[in-house]
Amino acid sequence: MPNLNEVIRNTPKAELHIHVEGSLEPEMMFDLARRNGVSLPYGDVDEVRRAYSFRNLQEFLDLYYEGMSVLRTEDDFFALADAYLRRAAADNVVHVEMFFDPQAHTARGVSLRALMDGLERASDCSRERGVSVSLILCFLRHLTETEAFETLEAAEPCRDRLLGVGLDSSEVGHPPSKFARVFEAARDMGLRLVAHAGEEGPPEYVWEALDILGVERIDHGNRALEDDALVARLREDRIPLTVCPLSNLELRVVDDLAAHPIKRMLDLGLLATVNSDDPAYFGGYINENFRRVAEAVDLSTDDIQTLARNSFTASFAA
Ligand code: HPA
Ligand code: ZN
Repeated sequence: MPNLNEVIRNTPKAELHIHVEGSLEPEMMFDLARRNGVSLPYGDVDEVRRAYSFRNLQEFLDLYYEGMSVLRTEDDFFALADAYLRRAAADNVVHVEMFFDPQAHTARGVSLRALMDGLERASDCSRERGVSVSLILCFLRHLTETEAFETLEAAEPCRDRLLGVGLDSSEVGHPPSKFARVFEAARDMGLRLVAHAGEEGPPEYVWEALDILGVERIDHGNRALEDDALVARLREDRIPLTVCPLSNLELRVVDDLAAHPIKRMLDLGLLATVNSDDPAYFGGYINENFRRVAEAVDLSTDDIQTLARNSFTASFAA
């Protein structure tokens, strides 16, 4: 009987909730800062790691946007995505649907072309190594609807390189309905639709993501469990949840991993998956998320295999 860690290591899986900018390790942050002449408010990588202590989503986002300011050229985006894709492959990830935040780069004068070319080149290299990759462009929900429309329009020439669009950044105060028309336009372009909802925001935001945006998958979705009718809807429509245990712990969505709802989600018949979100910031890549939450809530070998199987069912490659 293989132990749980071996099962986790040996089971092929898809990763569906990874922000490529959230895989920027402090070592690369320093290398790129030096190369690009960007100054960082830290003396060394240990100081960066010590700064990674968050009380909520916004405290994380502030450092996440600051960290990614070192990314400037196509080669930088290639290096970032290539490092993540190699690391994911080492965890037996065989398919990735990767988020990126173009507005966080174009606002700093980086061209969408440099960003997309770097990510695409890394994706091609990954495919040659046997790991499939698709890109999901995320709108920053703290920005305006107009800015989201401008971003979608700018991405139109690269339409064929995109799988879909998503919605991330500061959730509370920025309900999905704010982007109803943008998502409608993205759907008309044939793009697949996902959105972060129910991480810090209320169940109502998950309803809006489903009924107003028409998303096919919910990123996080933890707070959906507060609403029995919503749980029934997610179960009946087989709407996947891309759950991120270490992110939930580090951003205080849960007080303790032992209180993490992943097991409850499976018991409720939800199509839950395990993902890393921003692994350089939250202390682990996908297998570490599996290991830590499995230990904390006592997942069985069957649970691990169900979660891995769910990742393929929930993927747009299925
Ligand atoms: N939530 C919202 N926005 C984000 C996240 C997250 O967990 N990670 C990166 N951007
Ligand atoms: Zn996320």
